[in-house]
Amino acid sequence: MAEMGVFEVMYTARALRRFKPDPVPDDVITNVLDAAIRAPTGSNEQGWQFIVIKDAAQRKKIGDVYRKGGQILMALYANRTKPEHMPQKQFDKLMASAMYLIDHMGDAPVLLLACLQQAAPSGPPPQLPPEAAAALKNLGRMSGSSIYPAVQNVILACRAFGLGTCLTTIHMFYEDEVKQALGLPPEVQTYALLPIGYPSDKFGPIRRRPLSEVVHLDRWNNHWKG
Ligand SMILES: Cc1cc2nc3c(=O)[nH]c(=O)nc-3n(C[C@H](O)[C@H](O)[C@H](O)COP(=O)(O)O)c2cc1C
Repeated sequence: MAEMGVFEVMYTARALRRFKPDPVPDDVITNVLDAAIRAPTGSNEQGWQFIVIKDAAQRKKIGDVYRKGGQILMALYANRTKPEHMPQKQFDKLMASAMYLIDHMGDAPVLLLACLQQAAPSGPPPQLPPEAAAALKNLGRMSGSSIYPAVQNVILACRAFGLGTCLTTIHMFYEDEVKQALGLPPEVQTYALLPIGYPSDKFGPIRRRPLSEVVHLDRWNNHWKG
């Protein structure tokens, strides 16, 4: 496969949810995961663990959990209006594609579950000054920051190898069932479930809100004009 430039990869690695049944060679998955673990982690802890799920019975189990998660998602979305920035056609396509995946997650040739293993505490919890303790209120928001960069590398590496994938999270509504099916120990938390396969749909281009709406120079609302 010809080498692709990094920008071409980033601009075309859209979420793909329909896959051909063709198997994905193990060495390609190895290369994807080897790229994944080039990502940064907090304190370089590298607490990541990845489960490659190829066995049809295991994929079905995880697919069944994902379908249940999808039902919760659809209930949550029942009264949700279309985001303003998305044209109706694009929104309808997204919903149809997401619905398809809810019913077909287990059919993808490979499922990849990205996890983090909590490091065992190396001693008693430190005594923190009150202001530091208050700052810990943001700790929950940090939880995914040592795994999602690796997940993005998976998305980009898949694109470079001509594989489709899509970051999903709704298995977490029933995470205990996923953990049980895969035998994950209690200290391993799951963060993303990615179906991987040769796509039936086309890659990119990726459309996004313009930078002028989402970038601010020096202070809020001083919109970037560059
Ligand atoms: C945090 C996160 C959670 C997501 N969860 C799901 C999901 O549960 N199911 C799904 O089909 N897509 C999921 N997606 C994929 C998004 O719908 C997709 O990235 C977005 O629509 C942009 O798609 P595009 O890159 O093709 O434009 C998720 C993406 C992110 C970043």
